[in-house]
Amino acid sequence: MGKGVFITGTDTGVGKTFFACKLAALLRESGYRVGVMKPAESGCAERQGRLYPEDAILLKEASASQDPLDKICPYQLREPLAPSVAAQRQGITLEVDRLMDVYDEISSGHDITLVEGAGGLMVPLLPSYTYADLARVLKLPVIVIAANRLGMINHLLLTLEHARCKGLRVLGYVLNRLESGVPLAAETNREALSTLTAVRCAGELPFVAASEDAYNKAAYSFAEQFDLRIIDSVLCERPLR
Ligand SMILES: Nc1ncnc2c1ncn2[C@@H]1O[C@H](COP(=O)(O)OP(=O)(O)O)[C@@H](O)[C@H]1O
Ligand SMILES: [Mg+2]
Repeated sequence: MGKGVFITGTDTGVGKTFFACKLAALLRESGYRVGVMKPAESGCAERQGRLYPEDAILLKEASASQDPLDKICPYQLREPLAPSVAAQRQGITLEVDRLMDVYDEISSGHDITLVEGAGGLMVPLLPSYTYADLARVLKLPVIVIAANRLGMINHLLLTLEHARCKGLRVLGYVLNRLESGVPLAAETNREALSTLTAVRCAGELPFVAASEDAYNKAAYSFAEQFDLRIIDSVLCERPLR
């Protein structure tokens, strides 16, 4: 298996795809061949008789991956439910062996592969198999995206604790602002976390208005906001200092 990173979050809708796309674009612009994978995507809308895995499409665009969408996202599920439930209701049996084979293929053709989970670490892929189990079997170190708002300290610490219990290596967490304005919690969370966990904060992403993103200013600020050393540690197989 090639090198890769598993991108998880404290919840659904916290910016995993947003972050993964920014990171994929930055690495691609730096000359790396970036692979992407979304093992299962639920809530896919149907268009012209085909399911439309939006996250996988965004990841493919950002990384310029040449892999077909069916490979980037082997399980495309209709209903907006946890993948194990959506798959059961769609009459599909998810197979971890298939995901391992696909990850192997994608990662061996790229310098680094970004794998985006769904929801958080304990979301089930199979009735008794979670994304934490998948990250472990793929031997992927983890980046946790946390919505920087009130309640996040609890969600993030629970996620880090579960990662530890499952024997996952967490490279760092990223605090992501999903709203404009200056909420007090978002101003104080980073410092509060510094005495609660030894895991490093790998960056704080500002809220980016859609109009600003269109001019691609976000890619520029992303390079400044995110600590790329955690990716270097994967690419160079160096322990983090
Ligand atoms: N820093 C940010 N600034 C502005 N919008 C953001 C930011 N992070 C995420 N979003 C938006 O929030 C929504 C949810 O983000 P997404 O990356 O899809 O979450 P997830 O992949 O964790 O479900 C998307 O519409 C995304 O564009
Ligand atoms: Mg997503």
